[in-house]
This record gives sequence, structure tokens and C-alpha cells, in this order.
Amino acid sequence: MVGLGAQKKITIEAYRRALAHLYRQAAVHKAKKAAFSLPPASLFKLSQEDFGQQTATILGITSYDFNEFFSDTKRKKIELAQIALGVSSKDKAAFEKGVKKGDIIAEAVNKARHWVNTPPSHLTPPELAKHAQAIAKKRGLKFTQFGEAEIIKKGMGGLASVGRGSDNDCQLVILEYKTPKKNADTIAFVGKGITFDSGGLSLKPAAHMETMKEDMSGAAAVIATMEAIAQLKPDVNVIGVTPLAENLPSGKASKPGDIVRFYNGKTAEIKNTDAEGRLVLADALAYVAKHYKPDAIIDIATLTGACAYALGPFYSGLMSQHDDLAELIEESGDHSGDQVWRLPLSDDYKAAIKSDVADICNIGNQKYMAGAITAAHFLKYFVGDIPWAHLDIAGTAFNVTDRPYFKTGGTGVGVRLLVDIAQHWQ
Ligand code: BES
Ligand code: ZN
Ligand code: ZN
Repeated sequence: MVGLGAQKKITIEAYRRALAHLYRQAAVHKAKKAAFSLPPASLFKLSQEDFGQQTATILGITSYDFNEFFSDTKRKKIELAQIALGVSSKDKAAFEKGVKKGDIIAEAVNKARHWVNTPPSHLTPPELAKHAQAIAKKRGLKFTQFGEAEIIKKGMGGLASVGRGSDNDCQLVILEYKTPKKNADTIAFVGKGITFDSGGLSLKPAAHMETMKEDMSGAAAVIATMEAIAQLKPDVNVIGVTPLAENLPSGKASKPGDIVRFYNGKTAEIKNTDAEGRLVLADALAYVAKHYKPDAIIDIATLTGACAYALGPFYSGLMSQHDDLAELIEESGDHSGDQVWRLPLSDDYKAAIKSDVADICNIGNQKYMAGAITAAHFLKYFVGDIPWAHLDIAGTAFNVTDRPYFKTGGTGVGVRLLVDIAQHWQ
């Protein structure tokens, strides 16, 4: 038995944590099978199908374990082979339909976590691109990949400049899902994919570099989301774009003081090579805006330490000047469990990224502080007039505390959110 708290204040998040505790207890007692009697869906004001989806999603997420590098088999946690869920018989069909969807979502979340947890020398940009290609083939998605030479040729100077210091070529990967529904909207998800962020020549201190294999969490979320979407088949076309690069110092690396030209012709002064996420996203955003003209663009990135300081591990930062889009994302955040908190993207902050020598500068002037927002203003130069929202997951992607369904390491943040957005798009 696990309590859900006072009935008047019950939330779906309390239910998620209770389920995770149940799962953990069963696993601690080395159970191979467990049966859980569930509360009624009405307690959370959810439909049976939705309740089934939420339940399966969280049980699947709780079961994930990153154990492939343990040589001691005792450290590989025992998993429940079978879970029986008790719901009333009249609800069974709808609940089961939801469980099938929840299983797909959990698998995608865990895949994103697995890529994040995989050591950075194993998961390089070409390697992550291969995973995306395999998914496209298996699930029937359209797949496009540009390697470093093509990226340079196309004039994607931001992505090319970040990849230059590394021996592993940078990549741009695009996955496309087309809905059978006629005249449907098209949305684009763009995910930051820095497979390791050393800071480049503006080298990070050792303690800050320790977890920087997490810096491809946005790309992981987008690729995994595309795999879930290919199976869930929502009524909206979805394009997933991931600029992939490794940010390293070397004799070839770009330098503070360099100026780069992006795909849309704009230029930026690089004052700090550690503000690389916005440089790779700029080209990806400009590319998707020009070639797909989607009805909305949502980017997701471990972009700034400032956002992690502002919101901590429980809310991702949401920045947008489009209220309708922002409100839809807030709703999906609460409903999916990947919660977001909106920060003000007002034009007051725009002056922070002025440059004396180029169109804009890749770091904000310290007078303005608000590093998460000034970074969003940088991205805004590359989306044109298309409704756009930016998600900063620097605080929520890795080592999130106090959530019993997570462990140390990647959280797969963004997958549940982006899937929910696509499922509820109209
Ligand atoms: N990848 C980091 C942001 C980050 C920090 C992600 C902590 C996850 C946890 C990003 O590329 C970065 O280094 N940003 C700089 C920007 C600054 C130089 C303007 C930062 O936040 O310090
Ligand atoms: Zn950085
Ligand atoms: Zn980074």
C-alpha cells in the first residue's frame, strides 16, 4: 500500500511517485512478478485510456537501469518480468489501449536516457546519427543526413565552427513523420546534440565538465520522440532536426574573437566557445524554417547553466513570444510530467547580445544577466516569423533528485512532453 496524500490535494504526479515506490519495493524483495491494484482514474480526472498510458509510461521508466558496464553481475538489478494491473472490468479495453501507448512512450524515454548515459567517446555525432538512421529504417520515417563537408558547403558556419576542434565530424540529421490525415499542420522539433561539451578553447573547469556527456539530451529527446511518434501516429506532421557536434579544443578549434556566418546569412561574434549550443541550433533552426516552413518550431536544449540555477531540477525553462504555443506547452508539461516554467522573453533583453563587429554576439552582456533569456534571444534570430518556443533543459536532463522513477544519469526529459504536444496538436 502506498499513500497518495490528502484526497483534496491529489495529483497525477503523486500517483507517478507512488507507482515508482511500489515497483521499487517489489524489486527490492526480488519479486519476479507483482500485481498492483490501482485507484480509479476518476481520482485524477483522467480518461481510462489516458490513465493506462500514464501508468505504463511511469512503470516503464522506473524499470530502466544503465548497467551494461558492470562486470559484477550482482550489480545488474533484477527486473520485474511481469506486472499485473488491476482495474475494473468495464474499463479494461480502454485502459489496455492506453497501456500499449504508454509502453511505446516509456521505451522512447529510456532510449533517450540510454544515449545520454552512454560514454561520450562511444556516442559521437556519427554514432548518434547511425541510431537515428536505424530508427528511420525500422519505423518508416524519412531520413536525411549531412556530414561535415556538406555542412560547410551549405554555409552552416555555426555548426561547422563548433565541430571544427574535434576529430569526429559534425552532422545534421533530419527525421520526418507524415500523418495520413489530410491538410494537417506540420511542427518541427529541434534538439541540441553536443555529444560532449568541454567548452572548447573557453575550457570548462573540471567539475563543470564531469557530466557534459549530457549535452546531447535535446537531440536524444527529439530522435526518441520521433520513434514514438512513428508508432503512435498522431494527426500532425512532425519533423525532428538534430545538429550534432563535439565541442573540443585543438589546433583547429574556433577561437574567441572568431566571427561565423550562419545558414540564413546572419553573422555572430564568438566571444566564448562554451556558448556553442546556440551556434549549432542557429543553423538547424534557419534550415528548418527555410525548407519546411512549419506551423510551429519547438527547440529543446541543455543550453545554459543560468536556467538550471533559476529553476533547479524540477522545471524546464520555457521561452516564447507566442502565447498560444506557450500555453499549449505548459498544459502538455503538466499532463505529461515533464513540467515547464515560462520565463519572460521580452524585447528588453534583446540588447544584451549586441556586437561591435558582427550582427550578434554569442554571449549576453553581463549588465543584463538573465543568461537563459539572452540565449533565447540569440536563437530568435533564426526562426523568422514562424511561431517558436524554446525549452532549456540544462537543469532537468541529468541527475534529477527526489523523483523515485528516475535514477542518477539521464532523465529522458522532453520525450513525454514532445509526444504529448504531438498527441494533442490540432
Ligand atoms: N552545455 C552548457 C550548459 C549546461 C550547463 C548544460 C550545465 C547542463 C548543465 C552550455 O553549452 C554552456 O556551457 N553554456 C554557458 C554559456 C555561457 C558561456 C554564456 C553557461 O551556461 O555557462
Ligand atoms: Zn558549452
Ligand atoms: Zn553545451
